Parts: sequence; structure tokens; C-alpha cells
Amino acid sequence: MAVRVFEGIDHAAAYLQHRVAPYELINRIMSYMEKRMPNQFNLAVDVGCGSGQGTILLAPYFTKVVGTDVSPAQLEIALTNPRNPPSLSYRECPAEKLPFAPGEVDLVTAMTAAHWFDREKFLLEADRVLRPGGCLALLSYTMDMELEYGDVSNATLHDICNEFYTALLPYRNPHIGKSSMEIYSAMFDSCSYPDKEWNECLRSKRILPLSGYLGMVETFSSYQKLLQQDPAEAERLSNDTRNKLMSAMKVSSPDTEVTVVVKYFYWLARKPL
Ligand SMILES: C[S@@+](CC[C@H](N)C(=O)[O-])C[C@H]1O[C@@H](n2cnc3c(N)ncnc32)[C@H](O)[C@@H]1O
Repeated sequence: MAVRVFEGIDHAAAYLQHRVAPYELINRIMSYMEKRMPNQFNLAVDVGCGSGQGTILLAPYFTKVVGTDVSPAQLEIALTNPRNPPSLSYRECPAEKLPFAPGEVDLVTAMTAAHWFDREKFLLEADRVLRPGGCLALLSYTMDMELEYGDVSNATLHDICNEFYTALLPYRNPHIGKSSMEIYSAMFDSCSYPDKEWNECLRSKRILPLSGYLGMVETFSSYQKLLQQDPAEAERLSNDTRNKLMSAMKVSSPDTEVTVVVKYFYWLARKPL
């Protein structure tokens, strides 16, 4: 069963503005591929590409990159990115039915997206389109991003952020359950390729304004669900979190920059030759 929760144009625009781009992960994927298949890479397909901030990072390595998504709003926003190179294009289609011939694709990625798919059908479809020796890379991050700011205790900031995440838990979509890492781990176990690796935590730091951190959490599907059901409560929760964080940091502007620690997990696999 596929789930459609990324259809709003405002949500899609917030995505492009706030979601962090997974630079380090792209490096990991490319070094995995380069060790195994040093020849030129022709086609990469980023499934569930959203507004394309991860998709675009693949462009330097491939002759052609295609981002695919079921959400017309996300694709509309992806197309507005002025940095899109000519080798990058987008297609509206489900992850479970990709518009590529068998064995045509060198790399299939899904970035913070595979937990939304019909996972069994998607893995079969990725296997169909991958060429022998081609790679599959699935990545995501845990919701509990951490904040660091000057000499303010990390634990204090962490507690405030945790309160925010905990308040959002009841709004998580049942399709993704309590832990998306468990979903990826189960997908990893079900992948029959012998050459595969699982990586549980890659900590990646980003300097963002505090408002950017809050904007990113507001793109989570759980926050969007709360926003739909009770906009006043969603706004109160976000403002309350912002005020508590500013007070702990002893600052008066939400433009103050903080370090956001994103904890990625990912797995890579190579289709047998
Ligand atoms: C959390 S967003 C991630 C977007 C982007 N990859 C990123 O890293 O920010 C998940 C995306 O997956 C898409 N999606 C969900 N289910 C899908 C499916 N069955 N087929 C294709 N795309 C899907 C959504 O429309 C959404 O754009």
C-alpha cells in the first residue's frame, strides 16, 4: 500500500527551503559504487525525490539523473530549482512502477522516502530496473535531531527538542509506525544481494538558524498532520519550542545560528553480476 502525504504545494516549498541535503551520504554512495564499478555511470534514478535536494547532488557523477515522485506538488517545486543541470529531469510515477527498461539503471536511490513506499513491490521494481552490478542505496534519518549552541548544555537543548518530538509522535502515520529505522533494517534483511552493507548512524552537522531547524521539523509528516487537524495547536507547539530554546540559549532572535546534528542511517547493496 502506498501512502500520499506530501501533496500540498506549501509543504513541498517548505521541503526545498528547510530539508537538509545529504552531501555526506552521496559521497558514501559514490565511493561504494566507484570501488565496485569504476567505469562511467550512465543513469541514476532517485525515487521519492520530493523537491530534489538530494537528487541534484547525484548529477556530477552520472550522464543522466531522473528524480521520480508521486506528488505533482513536490515535482513542481523541484523544477523551480535554478541550479538544476540539463542532465537532471523529473518524472511523476509511483516507486512501485518505474518507467525504465529492465537493467537500464546504474543506481537507484531513495532518500528519506522508502518508508512511504509499498516496500516489497519497490524492492522488486528496483531489482528489475537495475543493471547487473548496479547499486541500490536507501537512506533516511531519525527524527531526534540534536541541537548544539555555544556552551549551553546539550542535554538542556535535547530535552526541549525531545518534548517537541514526543508531542508529534501521536501524529505519525501508521504506515511508518514508531521507528523508520526498523523498516529499513527489515528491507535490508529482505534484500537477497550478497554484497550489501548496513550503516546505523552517520552523524552529520549543519549550521542553521534556529528558525531553519524549526522549519525542518515542521516539514515532518507528523507536524503536517497536526497542522491539518489543529492549526492553532501546531503553531502554539512550534512557538513554545522556539521560545524555550531561545530562553535556554539566552538569545532574542530565531535567526541565531545553531548546530543541528542529523543522524542518518542507510544501506547499500550491489545487484550481482
Ligand atoms: C519525506 S519525502 C523525501 C523527499 C526527498 N527524497 C528528500 O530527501 O527530502 C518523501 C517523498 O516520497 C514521495 N513518495 C511517497 N510515496 C511514494 C511512492 N509510492 N512512490 C513515489 N514517491 C512516493 C512523497 O511524495 C515525498 O515527496
